Amino acid sequence: MEIKYLSSREVYEKLDMDSCIGLMEEVFAALSNGEVENVVRSMLNTGEGGLLGIMPGLIPSKHAIGAKLITIFHDNYLQGLPSHQGIVAVYDTTNGTLKGICDGTSITAIRTGAVSAVATKYMSRPESTRLALLGSGVQAGTHLDAIACVRDIREVTVWSNSPESMNSFIERYSKKYPGITIKGCETAQEAVKDADIICTVTPSHTPILKGEWVKAGTHINAVGACAKRDRELDSECVRKSKLICDAYSSCMAEAGDYLIPLEEGVFGEDHLLGDLGGVVTGKVTARTSDDDITCFEALGLAAEDVICADWLLSK
Ligand SMILES: NC(=O)c1ccc[n+]([C@@H]2O[C@H](COP(=O)([O-])OP(=O)(O)OC[C@H]3O[C@@H](n4cnc5c(N)ncnc54)[C@H](O)[C@@H]3O)[C@@H](O)[C@H]2O)c1
Repeated sequence: MEIKYLSSREVYEKLDMDSCIGLMEEVFAALSNGEVENVVRSMLNTGEGGLLGIMPGLIPSKHAIGAKLITIFHDNYLQGLPSHQGIVAVYDTTNGTLKGICDGTSITAIRTGAVSAVATKYMSRPESTRLALLGSGVQAGTHLDAIACVRDIREVTVWSNSPESMNSFIERYSKKYPGITIKGCETAQEAVKDADIICTVTPSHTPILKGEWVKAGTHINAVGACAKRDRELDSECVRKSKLICDAYSSCMAEAGDYLIPLEEGVFGEDHLLGDLGGVVTGKVTARTSDDDITCFEALGLAAEDVICADWLLSK
């Protein structure tokens, strides 16, 4: 059997951010309308510092069923390796034929930023120009690419635990976006104090963003913590926010940002207002005033990967 395979280079060449944002908007609307199936990720511990995630999804309108297989090694940045490495395989639902396989490292990098861009488009104040990035790795880069597609970003403040990673991020992205001022910060508090949009994109297990630092009107994309016991936001930050998740099933299984304060009794289950598909289709409204703080909790869904790979393989 000859297998069609798209490498990381081919994915980066073909999956431009604007197209990916369009695909994410489409898949979240379909999820909300019950037209897509998505299985919560299974995780297997490698026993040697990492995890294997198995993520199946079905998109009937595209005759596409598939899965992402991805390893997650959070300390890989210390060796210059990506934290997420994987593949996405897609089959034809009508006859079970393998449509092909795509590099999943690049799809994960691009689609995660694109999902946050959809949340930002619907939830942030339209006049937002200042973006804060907590973390300066792969996701920080694709989040800058993505958020700049939906808002007129003029200033970026960055903070991470590694000055080396932060400085190389600033050098690389200042060249890529000469019209945007990109400034490194010594603390997370300094980075977020004037921000209109904050993206948390670190593998930290404990809060790096405190509610007391976040000004009225800010939109937060909480992206880095994807396990029950991990969180990047403190309880006050989540309590102050109008909270939207990517999917209830994933949020209940994996979102420490929400589950830890829920367990502490800081708020009840009704604090979670809905999912992104509900926001995209107009069933749920997150922001009702310019002073609201809104927060999108991203865990990452298989359907996001399958729709990207199917789109790439059909080109
Ligand atoms: N929600 C999703 O769909 C989704 C998808 C992909 C990745 N992620 C998560 O996003 C996070 C970032 O992924 P990435 O690919 O950019 O990783 P990366 O390894 O490329 O970058 C991580 C960055 O965080 C910084 N960092 C590490 N530990 C930190 C800490 N304790 N405090 C502050 N900064 C810290 C590092 O210096 C680096 O700049 C990971 O936790 C990853 O699991 C989520």
